[in-house]
This record gives sequence, C-alpha cells and structure tokens, in this order.
Amino acid sequence: MTKRKILVTSALPYANGAIHLGHMVEHIQTDIWVRFQKMRGHECYYCCADDTHGTPIMLAAEKQGISPEELIAKVHQEHIADFSGFGIGYDNYYSTHSLENRHFSETIYQALKANNKIQSRNIQQLFDPEKQMFLPDRFVKGECPKCHAKDQYGDNCESCGATYSPTELINPYSAVSGATPVLKETEHFFFKLSECADFLRDWTSGQTVLANGQTQTHLQAQSLNKMNEWLGEDEEGNSTLSDWDISRDAPYFGFQIPDAPNKYFYVWLDAPVGYMASFQNLCTRLGLDFNEFFRADSETEMYHFIGKDILYFHALFWPAMLQFSGYRTPTGVFAHGFLTVDGQKMSKSRGTFITARSYLDGGLNPEWMRYYIAAKLNSRIEDIDLNLQDFIARVNSDLVGKYVNIAARAAGFIRKRFSGSLKAVENSELLQQLIAKSETIANDYETREYAKALREVMTLADTVNEYVDANKPWELAKQADQETRLHQVCSELINAFKILTVYLSPVLPKVAEHAAAFLNINALTWQDSTQTLPENHQINEYKHLMQRIEEKQVSDLVEANKQSIQAAATPESSQYVPVSEQCSFDDFMKVDMRVAKVLNCEAVEGSTKLLKFSLDFGFETRTIFSGIAASYPNPAELNGRYVIAVVNFAPRKMAKFGVSEGMILSAADKDGKLRLLDVHAGAQAGDKVG
Ligand code: 2FM
Ligand code: ZN
Repeated sequence: MTKRKILVTSALPYANGAIHLGHMVEHIQTDIWVRFQKMRGHECYYCCADDTHGTPIMLAAEKQGISPEELIAKVHQEHIADFSGFGIGYDNYYSTHSLENRHFSETIYQALKANNKIQSRNIQQLFDPEKQMFLPDRFVKGECPKCHAKDQYGDNCESCGATYSPTELINPYSAVSGATPVLKETEHFFFKLSECADFLRDWTSGQTVLANGQTQTHLQAQSLNKMNEWLGEDEEGNSTLSDWDISRDAPYFGFQIPDAPNKYFYVWLDAPVGYMASFQNLCTRLGLDFNEFFRADSETEMYHFIGKDILYFHALFWPAMLQFSGYRTPTGVFAHGFLTVDGQKMSKSRGTFITARSYLDGGLNPEWMRYYIAAKLNSRIEDIDLNLQDFIARVNSDLVGKYVNIAARAAGFIRKRFSGSLKAVENSELLQQLIAKSETIANDYETREYAKALREVMTLADTVNEYVDANKPWELAKQADQETRLHQVCSELINAFKILTVYLSPVLPKVAEHAAAFLNINALTWQDSTQTLPENHQINEYKHLMQRIEEKQVSDLVEANKQSIQAAATPESSQYVPVSEQCSFDDFMKVDMRVAKVLNCEAVEGSTKLLKFSLDFGFETRTIFSGIAASYPNPAELNGRYVIAVVNFAPRKMAKFGVSEGMILSAADKDGKLRLLDVHAGAQAGDKVG
C-alpha cells in the first residue's frame, strides 16, 4: 500500500470564548479521520491553533482589564484542556500570535504584493470619535433602514433579514462607547481577488490525483454550487468577485503590515496562515521537512475541516492567497453543517448551549458524545441534531448493550475456566463475516461517511449477539461435556470483540486503549481487523469498559448550562435586548398557532401538574396535555372555551400519560401562575393566529 503524507486541520477557534459542542462536532469529525489515517499506516499530521487576533479579542481583554496577550494565554490553556478532555489528538495546537505566523503572513503578503495582487485604496469607514477607533460592522448598531427595527447590527437586520452597509443605519451608534460614529477616510489594502477568478474557477471545480492513484475533488458538490454563484460574471463579462480588504487601522490586536505604519493585517488574513504556522512549529519540533508539504509542486495532501459558514474564506481567499504567493493549494476543503440540540439552535437560556467544560465537569464520558456525533455525520454539508433522549438511548443500546457486552459475556469464562488462554479460531465463520467488512468500513471512514460506518459496525455487533444467544455460553458452562465448545465460542467472542474494537477505534480511542490492555495486545492498527489472535494467546482480567448514561446526568448538564436570560445575552447586546434572545421573522413564521375549542378538559390521574385537553381545531381533534392544573382546580369549567395552541409543535410523550399533540399558550404572572390566553369573541376553531 502506498504510504500517504497528509496534513489535516480543523478551523481555528477564536481565543475569546469557551469551546462548546458546536466546535466539538468539527474537531471530533477531524480527529476520527486523522486517527483512521494513522491506523491505516499513513503519515498524517493534525494541526490546529487558537485564532487570536482582531477587534473583539482586543475589546474583550480591555473589558477584563488585562492585556490581549494575557487573555489569549489564559484561553489557550482552557481550549487545550477542553479538547484533550474529548480525546482530540492534535499533533500540534498552536497560536496565531506566534513568530511563525508573523513570518508566513508577511511572506505571503510580500509575495502577493510582488505579484501585483495588492492594491491600496482610500475608503470611508465609520469611526468612533470617543474611542478613537474605526468600527467593524458588528460594532455599529442602529435602526434598520428597511423595517425600522431598533438596535440592529451594522451588516444585517435580524428582524427582517435585510443586508446593508453600516452607513445606511438610521441613528447609528457605536456598540463600544454609545457615541454617534462619523465617516472618516482611511487607506486600506486590498487583495485583488477579482484577478484570481480564472484560477478560482479551475481550482474550485478541480480535483487532485493522490499518491495512491485515487482522485479527490477539492470541494464537495454543495460547496461547488455555492462557489459557482460567487464566481459568476456580469453582463460585460467582468468577474462578480469583489476585492478583499485585508487591512485594519490601529488600534488593533494583530500583526503590523510591513512598511505601513498603523496598519494591521485583518484577522482573517493571518488566521488560515495559522495552519502553516502550526505545522512549521511541529516541523521544527519533530525535524520534518516543511517545504515538502508546502512547496507549489508538493505531492503531499492537505485537508481543511471547516463549518459551512466559513467556506468563502477557505474555498476562495485561502487557495488564491496560496496560489499567488507560490505555495501549494489545499487538496480538499471539507465543510460540515451546524449542530442543533433537540431540533433547535443551541440556546443559552434553554441550557442547550453546552460547553465542553460543563460536559467534562459533569462527569459525562466524552466517548459517548464522540460516538453520537459520529453516528450522525456524513460527507455532506447537513446540519446535525443532538437529540438528548436519542443520545441516551443510542449510546446505551449500541455501545453498552451491543458492543461492550460482548467482551463482558465471554471474558469471565476464559479467565476462570481456561486460565485466560484462547483457542485458535481462524476458521470461525462468524469471524470471517466480521473480517469481510474491513475494507467497506475503511472506505466509509475514508469518505467521511461515519454514520454509515457505524451502522455497519452495529449490524455486525447484532450478528455477534445473535451468536451468543444461539450458543448460550452460560448453559454450555453447566455441561461437563461442552467444555471444548465453551472454549471455542468464548474465544470467538473475544476475537469478535477485538475486530469490532478496531472498527470503533477512530471514534472511541480511550475504550480502544483499555480494550487493548484487556486483550493484551499492542495499540490496534486497521490490519488487526483482518487477523485473529493466535492459539494460547493470554488475555487479561476484564474491567468494565463503559457505563450507561443516566437520564439525570443529561438533565443536570442542561441545568448547568442554563443561564438567566440576562446573563445569556452577550455583553454588548444585553443592554438593548432585555427580554430574551431575538428570533427572526422566519423563525417566528415557523410557529403555526391556531384557535381551538375545548371539547373536554380533565385532570390527569397520577399528575398534579397536567390537564388533559381534547381540542377541536376545525380540521381535526387533538389531545394536548398542559401543565396548568394548579391554576384550574375545576377543569370541567374550561369545556366550551376557546384557546390558542401551537399545532406544529413536535408531538411529545408525557411520561406514562400519553402523547401531547401540540402546546396551549398561557401567560405566566410574576409569581409563575399560568392562565390561558383569551381569544376574541367570534373566533372560529382553526383560525390562524399570528
Ligand atoms: O470562524 C471562526 O471561528 C474562525 N476563528 C475560524 C478561523 S479558521 C482559519 F482560517 F483559521
Ligand atoms: Zn429590518
């Protein structure tokens, strides 16, 4: 097999915030791929870093009364602890605030300049006269010019979705000081992206032939479609790509631009260069040849795992920067979708904005989450949902019920009855079935079809468990003449467990490590999935490899992440959004509220909180449970009255009482007492509310 040389990266997290499960999706996705490549025997390096520059980090440090250097040093430690807690095995986790990064940022800039790809232009930008600084779009707020919603950001309106420039805002103010910004002229440097359109059209639709003869498209099909929209031409045949503003004025936390006093590189210029810097730092440490990986005609591979929101930077700016400064371009940019929790955007007030730290501190096993996320991931740019109930059910059933159990059921007999020694099993039909899937599963990992890989593995685990049930080792153990058979069956099970462990290793590195110790073998390689353990191989004592998840651990986790609405709002928005997180017009329109007539309302036996409603919606009758019993001690008096209910609320199972097919609206007074909303006279069942 050809040994491939591969450099892999995950997007660099900003150095002013905690790592949360949204980050984890990407770093877990990347880590699984890297571990898989290493198990296949390839030379693969995984580099990442903190993204440390820019205005938000500068202001965050100021707010905390520390220097930006102190802030990023503190956050670096936290990020490293969080990621290593989840078993993310970087070869290097570095920082963009490093000598290497300054060197490469300057080198690339100088090369682009020498290639006539940098242009200086004077622009007008909003300036905070109190704070004496130019304001990035996100730091200007004001009234939306389209819908007149107040306190909107300078680039788009969260209320009506309009996009505009900050100068179009009505009554603009600085989110930093509150002062009214003024327009001020300043010189900026632009990377002439419009001149790179031909290259980018080729590169984005292109592919690379790898050292092993396989081809790799640079972008996923969905990304390419998006790029083609951006890479269009106007009627005169001119590129619609705009040049890219790569400079910012002082005060700014970042690298000064050579020969340009008071001008700094925009954070998004030096961020992807951070991939190179981190790798260079690793090369120095390990004595690797950096140029072999980064020279223009490099035969090595380079992949970037990113979120779909930063495709533009990775599929246009970054390849163009590399190409026109004389370096290699990426082999592939792999974008993933966003993480939702229970079908909704992560929310601080609902407690679903779950930080990595709270998960680890809550004593939850990181490999549960690695497994669940992997079981949802594929190679496409789709959002993935963490359904908390499904998380518990899936991990308990697949990992504890199906996989770990195999070892638990066989190990005791091997240790007690056969002094830990295995029988030869190379002719086992069961094991041949497992071995036969080795390349299929490998191909699934290679192509980032993790969900498919894990489905294959669990189907194999089902086969093994059926074999246990068919052969009943616990019964064989009671029959003196079945000793050999017992030894045979249990040896097959231990080997089956080993093969399944190989298949799960990229996802569950810790379990795999403990399993290897139990099996008394070296760290597993992919090759181990095609071989059985030799006759008389000794295994060690079995120690339980994974606990079940308890419901309480998950509900405590959500509780620990719940922030009061006030605290949940970001510092700069909290003064302007005192009520709750804003929801967009589109979000609001998703909620289908209707008038319904109460056909019957009754108390629920066994519940002090719930009332059971039978409701006529005009188009159908539905059952809905509502937790308002305390406010209506005499439920029958509600019969015949009209209420408002959400009809497209996902059905919810209410413990043992039945399924609730919607949600009735009520208002809570300051003591938390709930009362149904009134409907105006003359309303009909089924009328739409909004
Ligand atoms: O979007 C982000 O979180 C950025 N910090 C990602 C940077 S990725 C790379 F370009 F550095
Ligand atoms: Zn608007």
